[in-house]
Amino acid sequence: MDKIIVKGGQTKLQGEVEIEGAKNAVLPLLAATLLASEGEVVLTNVPILSDVFMMNNLVDHLGTSISFDQEAKKIIAKANSEIKTTAPYEYVSKMRASIVVMGPILAINGQARVSMPGGCSIGSRPIDLHLRGFEQMGATITQNAGYIEAKADKLKGAHIYLDFPSVGATQNLILAATLAEGVTTLENAAREPEIVDLANLLNKMGANVKGAGTDTIIIKGVEKMHGAKHSVVQDRIEAGTFMVAAAMTQGDVLIKDAIAEHNRPLISKLSEMGVNFTQEETGLRVVGPEKLKATSVKTLPHPGFPTDMQSQMAAAQAIAAGESVMVETVFENRFKHLEEMRRMGLEVDITRNTALIQGNSNLQGAAVKSTDLRASAALILLGLVAKGQTTVRRLSHLDRGYYKFHEKLKALGADIVRVKDEDGEE
Ligand code: EPZ
Repeated sequence: MDKIIVKGGQTKLQGEVEIEGAKNAVLPLLAATLLASEGEVVLTNVPILSDVFMMNNLVDHLGTSISFDQEAKKIIAKANSEIKTTAPYEYVSKMRASIVVMGPILAINGQARVSMPGGCSIGSRPIDLHLRGFEQMGATITQNAGYIEAKADKLKGAHIYLDFPSVGATQNLILAATLAEGVTTLENAAREPEIVDLANLLNKMGANVKGAGTDTIIIKGVEKMHGAKHSVVQDRIEAGTFMVAAAMTQGDVLIKDAIAEHNRPLISKLSEMGVNFTQEETGLRVVGPEKLKATSVKTLPHPGFPTDMQSQMAAAQAIAAGESVMVETVFENRFKHLEEMRRMGLEVDITRNTALIQGNSNLQGAAVKSTDLRASAALILLGLVAKGQTTVRRLSHLDRGYYKFHEKLKALGADIVRVKDEDGEE
C-alpha cells in the first residue's frame, strides 16, 4: 500500500477544485438499478472510488450487468428480470453499505439472503431499523450462519416510524417499498441530499416516491420499473473537506459547482471561525482568515452538522485560537483521529462523545495512521499546517471516499506526495 507525505507550515491553498459525484449517493443508486426489469439505467458523474467498484461487482453478481466507463465517469446497468436472492459474504463483508441491496432483492423475489454486514471502526452499526421495517412490510426475518434471511409472499405497504433517521434504513425501505403492494409511509426518515438523489432516480425509473428530503416519505408501490438516465449529485462531503482545507491554510479556493444548500451547517460554523464565503458564477469561493477562531460543534442527522465532516472540522479546531468543543452524536466511536492528532502535539480531552480541543498553532508533523475514510482526509489536512513532515498510512480508507485527493491538493499548491509504503502498511 502507499503512504502520503505532506510538508506543512507555509502552504496557502490557491486555485479551483472540481468535486466528484457523491459516494453516499452512487452506492444506493447502484442498488436501485436492480429494480429495473427492462431497459438500461445510465449513471453519469460517477466517482471513481474503491467502494463503487465493490458495489458494481455485487450488483453485477446479482444479475444486473454493469459496465463502468471510468474515462466518462459513466455506468451502464442493463436490466435483468432474473435477480439472485443471495448477497454473498465475500461482497457484503467488504463494504457494509452493500446492505442496501436487501430492499431491492426482497421487493423483486419476495425473499432475500444477505450476509450480516460487519461493524467498523466508527461503531457497531446495527441494522435493526432496516429489519424492523421489512417485518412491518410483511417479511419474516431469520438469521443463520452469518446470513440474514427475509421472506415475504409479497411486500405490503406499511406505516413505519424510524426510531432514528437512519440513512441506510431509509434507503433500504424506500427501495423495498417501490414494488410493494400499496402505500408505505416512512416517518422520521433521513433527510440527507443523497436520499433526494435516490428518490429522483427511482421516480425516473417509474417509481412513485414523494417527500424525499423531508422527515416523511410516501412510496406508492408500482408494478414494474424501467431504465433511466441520471447524474449523481455532487459529493457534499468532498466539497466540505476542501472548504476546510482552504479555511485551515489561509487559502483562497473556488469549489466548482458547490451546492451551498447541502453544506449550510458547515458553512455557518466555518463563518463563525472567520472564514469568508462568496457565491460566484462557477462555484463557491472560500477564503481562510489569518487565524481561525475556536467554535463548538455537535454532529446531528441532516440538516444538522454532518458526522462525515466531524474529523475534518476537528482538524480546523486543532489549529484555532482557544478551546473548541466537538460532540459526536451519530456514531459511538468516531474520535480515533484525535488520538492520532495527539501524536502531532494536539491537547484534547475526550469524555464519551465530547472532545475539548485546545487549539495550537505549533503542531508538529508526525507519522499517523488513518482509522476511517474521513479521518484520513482530516490527518492530511492537519499535515498541511503542522510544522515539518506528516506521513499518513492506511490509505485504503482514503481511497474508499476520495478520488485523486492528494493530486487535487497538490494542484492547489500543497507540498504533498503519495509513495509506495516500503514498511508494508495495509
Ligand atoms: C451512512 O451510513 C453513510 N454511508 C455514512 O457515511 C454516514 O456517516 C451515515 O450515513 C450518517 O450520515 C453511506 O451512505 C454509504 P445510519 P449508514 O444508518 O447508513 C445507527 C462515510 O464516511 N443505526 O444513518 O450506516 C448507527 O449505528 C460514511 O462516507 C441503528 O442503530 O448510517 C449509527 O449510530 C461513514 N440501527 C446511526 O444510526 C440501524 O438499523 C447512523 O447510522 C441503522 C443505523
